[in-house]
Amino acid sequence: MKNFLIIGNWKSNKTVSEALDFIKKLLPLIRPGHSRYGIAAPFTCLQSLAQEAKGTEILIGSQNISEQVGGAFTGEISTRMIKDVGATFSLIGHSERRLLYSESDELIKKKIKRSLLDGVRPILCIGETLEQRESGNVIKVLENQLFQALSDLNKDELHAVTIAYEPVWAIGTGRAATPETAQETHKILRDFLVRKWGEEVCYSLKILYGGSVTPENIKDLLKQPDIDGALVGGASLDEGLFAKIVNFAREL
Ligand code: PGA
Repeated sequence: MKNFLIIGNWKSNKTVSEALDFIKKLLPLIRPGHSRYGIAAPFTCLQSLAQEAKGTEILIGSQNISEQVGGAFTGEISTRMIKDVGATFSLIGHSERRLLYSESDELIKKKIKRSLLDGVRPILCIGETLEQRESGNVIKVLENQLFQALSDLNKDELHAVTIAYEPVWAIGTGRAATPETAQETHKILRDFLVRKWGEEVCYSLKILYGGSVTPENIKDLLKQPDIDGALVGGASLDEGLFAKIVNFAREL
């Protein structure tokens, strides 16, 4: 039985009371199983969620972190701060941050390094735009994003990284990649990682798929050999839909 990882990405949604209501309703819906699951929540909800999640299996993480240790960086939230309130992982380099907030590969690389130094597990998000796919540049774009973010890491550090492949054209569009397209791309990513860092670390490294994941398409996606879980946006906002996705992962 494969040990999948399912992470919900709430984006800029839910107040503290809505988040608490969600988790109280979600927990009883989740069936026992090996696969792990969690929520990448807005900063404002982290403390309450982490307290509510104590003693349960649900992982709580953030959607972004500062690359800085702390200091004069107005508006930034450091890894030390999110750890302090109970978060254990963070998304890094989500396409919305890359495209809407101009996060560069250089900045993302620093955030990955910072999270590893401070013991917050990074989920590195990568993905190509529709234009890049249509112009035949998928492999080049993705390998470049991976290389830029990870090239400085040693094997031990890489071991703590999770990768989320999220084609930008599939995010929030209701147009998920087909299981075959997703598998083909995940295999290319895994082969690239193996070439750079060797088999030992890269076969155990999780590569999640993200982009319009629903209870309807999750099973076929997770049946693919190189898909190790999912990053779920829209469908993670509803506890019933998210529980179905986690439970499917736990059944397979
Ligand atoms: P979506 O979002 O599931 O709503 O497409 C995924 C994401 O952006 O992580």
